[in-house]
Amino acid sequence: MSEFPNIGLGTYKNTEPERCADIVSTALETGYRHVDTAQAYDNETYVGDGIERAKINRDDVFLATKVWDDALAYDDVLESAGDSLDRLGVESVDLLYVHWPRNTYDAEETLPAFDELRDDGTIDHVGLSNFTPEQLDEARSVLDAPIFAHQVEMHPLLQQEELHEYAREDDHWLVAYAPLARGKVTDVDEIQEVAEKHDTTPHQVSLAWLAAKENVVAIPKTSSEDHLQENLEAGELELDEDDIAAIDAIEREERLIDPDDAPWNR
Ligand SMILES: NC(=O)c1ccc[n+]([C@@H]2O[C@H](COP(=O)([O-])OP(=O)(O)OC[C@H]3O[C@@H](n4cnc5c(N)ncnc54)[C@H](OP(=O)(O)O)[C@@H]3O)[C@@H](O)[C@H]2O)c1
Repeated sequence: MSEFPNIGLGTYKNTEPERCADIVSTALETGYRHVDTAQAYDNETYVGDGIERAKINRDDVFLATKVWDDALAYDDVLESAGDSLDRLGVESVDLLYVHWPRNTYDAEETLPAFDELRDDGTIDHVGLSNFTPEQLDEARSVLDAPIFAHQVEMHPLLQQEELHEYAREDDHWLVAYAPLARGKVTDVDEIQEVAEKHDTTPHQVSLAWLAAKENVVAIPKTSSEDHLQENLEAGELELDEDDIAAIDAIEREERLIDPDDAPWNR
């Protein structure tokens, strides 16, 4: 598989211009190499400012963005991808996702535009987000390009075994969003026990558990410099088989992002 850092930076809700640009540039200077944004986050411009400001080469940053569900008709994909590149201030992005397969999404209409963007070099890779296995099957039958990554909610309280198995079989990356369960990992006994054993935090344990899984990368969001460091270092924390088995066995299940109740729909 291509090089894809196992811990990336999520940027959802980082909409304050200076703060967003600052955290992105600090993250890159701290060692992050994968930044995740989206048209719907209203921060592509500030993410681009952060990349520009960081003292590293653009080619060393894996930059991903997503086309929102109101721009998934063929011409709209081409136009809105161009708008994203303009806002980000880059000539191409490494990965462009279909953010959510609904509203204007239609596989036969939407996905050929993603193939075209890949063929003309606007994007390096095609990604999908929030797809079911059936929708992945359909997408694979329409796309010329391989699916590079599928981004879904995934954390110890929503383990996504079926989509993980699918990702391994199709050999694409499963990108775990909300990998800290938006902080809920702190009140799960099994995670706390593993954290105490390794003298670390539940946040690091959750990220290390994800990073240990084949074909999985995680994109925690933070606006705090301390958390930036802590989350990046989690990619190097090695959990043993017992730790992983204890977390795999967690029965409590919580989906935090309800597709019909996403904040941008309110
Ligand atoms: N494709 C999709 O539909 C979709 C949907 C949702 C999210 N995403 C992507 O996934 C990214 C991550 O998901 P998320 O932002 O929803 O949730 P998350 O990463 O699970 O949690 C973020 C929350 O955890 C806190 N946090 C981060 N690191 C911490 C640490 N080490 N210790 C204590 N608290 C910590 C953050 O606060 P501080 O800022 O104070 O650190 C923030 O409140 C998003 O930013 C976005 O890029 C994609």
